[in-house]
Amino acid sequence: MNNRLKTIVDLERYPIQDLNSPKIKETIKKCKNDLDKFSCATIPNFILFESLEIMNAELKKHINEVYMSKESINAYLYSKDDSSLPIDHPKRIFMDRDNGYLNSDLFEKDSEIKFLYAQEELLNFVSACLGVSPIYRWADPLACHAYNVMKPEGILPWHFDSCEFTLSILIQKSEKGGIFEYCPNIREPGNENFEEVKKVLDGDRTRVCQLKLDPGYLQIFKGRFTLHRVTKVEGNRSRYLCIPAYVLDPWRVNTPEHSRAIYGKVLPIHIERNKPRADGLVD
Ligand SMILES: [Fe+2]
Repeated sequence: MNNRLKTIVDLERYPIQDLNSPKIKETIKKCKNDLDKFSCATIPNFILFESLEIMNAELKKHINEVYMSKESINAYLYSKDDSSLPIDHPKRIFMDRDNGYLNSDLFEKDSEIKFLYAQEELLNFVSACLGVSPIYRWADPLACHAYNVMKPEGILPWHFDSCEFTLSILIQKSEKGGIFEYCPNIREPGNENFEEVKKVLDGDRTRVCQLKLDPGYLQIFKGRFTLHRVTKVEGNRSRYLCIPAYVLDPWRVNTPEHSRAIYGKVLPIHIERNKPRADGLVD
């Protein structure tokens, strides 16, 4: 039994250390079903209250080091316009962004989330829920398990993630707003589906789902194929989230452009590994 893991995850309710136990098999079955249908699954009260307190404290300790990005950005996370495209192309729609990250390289050695992310039990559980194996921890040293910060009035506009699979653990909820919205499976490898993406960016709500997320819930999400956003944070309380990510390619990291725009800096690894992607999707 992993002694520290049991102080973070409610292993009695969700015994992820034993994927053959009937209890966890039931959870995996439900998550797999939800992920197949909606590209998103949530597991209530997965993280213990005491651990949420520790995560909040470690984020607050470093809150002044959070990089806030306020660039106007398109759904593919680019801030530069491409005037060679038709004027109504979704890549030419830019949206306000006011959202920050505490980069993974700023975490202390014994950090709660760093420890959780390193656990094979979590990786194997997520892999089973997705029905995808192998999955890998993300090689990006800034983005792999960052804390996300949205201050009052903060907003995260429609976008796709660079990594295939994202976990979200809400550690502090905003008073109002800050709602996660998503359009399941709107694009897939080899098919950008620009027409449908454009409709959503123009305000069509037909495909839009909203997620109920409370502190301690674990959300598993296919962010590379699912257009998603977080609505404006209202009230006085910031919204804090921790977002460990998994990928299909253990070598790849963010592009230099993304890393600069979202995490505020570019490391040599981002330049060395800046190669076209196999899935043919824009990022
Ligand atoms: Fe995202």
